[in-house]
Amino acid sequence: MLKIQNLRKQFVTKRGDVVALQDLSFEVPQGAFFTMLGPSGCGKTTTLRCIAGLERPDAGEIKIGERIVFSTDKRIMVPASQRRISMVFQSYAIWPHMNVFDNVAYPLQVRNVPRSEVIARVRRALDMVELKEMEQRPATDLSGGQQQRVALARAIVAETDLILLDEPLSNLDEQLRVQMRTQLRELHQRLGCTVVYVTHDQREALVLSDIIAVINAGQIVEMGEPRRLYLRPQRRFTASFMGTTNLIEGKRGDTRALPVAAIPPECEHCDARGGCQDMRTIASTPLGQFHYASDGQVAMSDLVLLCVRPESIRVSPTPQANKCNLVSGRVTRAEFLGNYQRCDVQIGEMSLGVRANPEYPLKVGDQVFLHLPAQALVPIQADQVSAPS
Ligand SMILES: Nc1ncnc2c1ncn2[C@@H]1O[C@H](COP(=O)(O)OP(=O)(O)O)[C@@H](O)[C@H]1O
Ligand SMILES: [Mg+2]
Repeated sequence: MLKIQNLRKQFVTKRGDVVALQDLSFEVPQGAFFTMLGPSGCGKTTTLRCIAGLERPDAGEIKIGERIVFSTDKRIMVPASQRRISMVFQSYAIWPHMNVFDNVAYPLQVRNVPRSEVIARVRRALDMVELKEMEQRPATDLSGGQQQRVALARAIVAETDLILLDEPLSNLDEQLRVQMRTQLRELHQRLGCTVVYVTHDQREALVLSDIIAVINAGQIVEMGEPRRLYLRPQRRFTASFMGTTNLIEGKRGDTRALPVAAIPPECEHCDARGGCQDMRTIASTPLGQFHYASDGQVAMSDLVLLCVRPESIRVSPTPQANKCNLVSGRVTRAEFLGNYQRCDVQIGEMSLGVRANPEYPLKVGDQVFLHLPAQALVPIQADQVSAPS
């Protein structure tokens, strides 16, 4: 539905040139909720502005449906007003001197849509954002959340196939943000339009999206479904940007290449001869030998970075029998957060962050046993591991 190819954008400033978009390419399928997730300054807004026609890229091509709206090669630049896109800005940008109805009606009025149709469409849009009874309210009498819904209704009313949303929830307080997140998701399902959403908030991205593109420094780092990106990141940036994680550097080794003594004696993944039964492999790390979830690319002595989420580590005050991937260490930090305890556990030179069951109080200095399940140890491609010095 939307196809971006090799988009580049550089800003010339007094302090020098800023490369906002390095070489951005992605495709958004019809009807998808597509999110660009990345830190502040990574180029998210610039991308949306290029799609909307508010910014002229230095190079590349933008295609909406079958229509090329921008191309340096083909010398095409369709003006913003003719791109049939709605955009909601981070600062909602609703008109303070107008009431709710007129704010929402604005995009139709500038296009000279007949009055009766304007009324019907505005009411339908206000109904969708649950603001129907507020039609006549002056915009200035609205709460932040209501203003944001007005901005959304104004984007919906135009009935474009493509809606661009630039951090639309970031100015709201936490509780409202969570509510609006759910409403946005439902709204998208009802409308069936294609959405390109921009946020620096990984939770928002996880909840809302069909596809997430993780962006850093004007480039896509990794793209995929929320679950896959969170549970099976392939890049270090993704693993650390999306939630908290532990990264363990090690060396990959095929179990068949290891001396039998190196295999944990009661390994649930190995057969009696110490051969690995399934696709799992072993890595040697500063914490010891670990089976990990293989990415199917078993290679000898490669460097490997294993990523394990704090919530995937099983914490126990006593040794856990019949399990490999077990280490023990001492608690160096323990925080009670109600539904879990956040702890740091020191094992030799390394510290691992874990989430422990709040029912068993842990305190600094306690010895604990950690089980790192093989399926929760996710290898990240070796070429992204910094070489040990
Ligand atoms: N009009 C502009 N002039 C100069 N630099 C800009 C301009 N707009 C954006 N930038 C720079 O481009 C980079 C990307 O900005 P932006 O797309 O706004 O990032 P994001 O929305 O991800 O926070 C930043 O380094 C920003 O400072
Ligand atoms: Mg921005």
